[in-house]
Amino acid sequence: MLNIALPKGRLGEKVYALLSSIGYDCKEWDPDNRKLVFSDEAKGVSYFWVKPSDVAIYVELGAADLGVVGKDILLEYSPDVYELSDLKMGKCRMAVAAKKDFIDDTERPLKVATKFTHIARSYYAGIGREIRVIKLNGSIELAPILGLSDVIVDIVETGTTLKENNLEVKEEIVPISTRLIANKAAYRFKKEGIDRLRSLLETKL
Ligand code: PRP
Repeated sequence: MLNIALPKGRLGEKVYALLSSIGYDCKEWDPDNRKLVFSDEAKGVSYFWVKPSDVAIYVELGAADLGVVGKDILLEYSPDVYELSDLKMGKCRMAVAAKKDFIDDTERPLKVATKFTHIARSYYAGIGREIRVIKLNGSIELAPILGLSDVIVDIVETGTTLKENNLEVKEEIVPISTRLIANKAAYRFKKEGIDRLRSLLETKL
């Protein structure tokens, strides 16, 4: 059996559709009920429906052999897993944004609000800018509006959230997309099955 952790929600459903199109469909699959595990013994596959930010933990600790996760999570938490393929979905970018009229005063530390504290710290360390990180858990765009921070480091997809809050991208940090990851031990013991799934998947990308 291959155990696969999928991110709950639209992205997970898209990935399931892709896996199902290459033969990893699951008779029980029904993301609309409250079940969290869907198995199909005949197909040799079991899906776990996991909160997106938890997928990497399930895979790193071996509860799942494979998982589907955003590059943002891999950069932020550096889980000890293999990154097998870029699924070229969920494309967005990690960026610095601020109010349109924001001017950086380099005489003092920059106040940065973000969920992604590690990404923010390494980006600013790389350009030699001293910062103060304000860790938030959501609605990050509010921080510069209320003067809680000077800038934010956050995911920008369509740019609508920034636009509707009169903010704009100031610097792009890194492009983000969805990746297929594998548990390291599982990759050794189930190499044949995992490589097969991966190469079938890559023909569809
Ligand atoms: C993410 C991100 C932005 C938004 C960007 O938030 O934090 O707020 O999406 O998308 P856009 O460029 O298409 O507008 P999410 O919906 O994950 O919620 P959050 O407030 O919990 O971060």
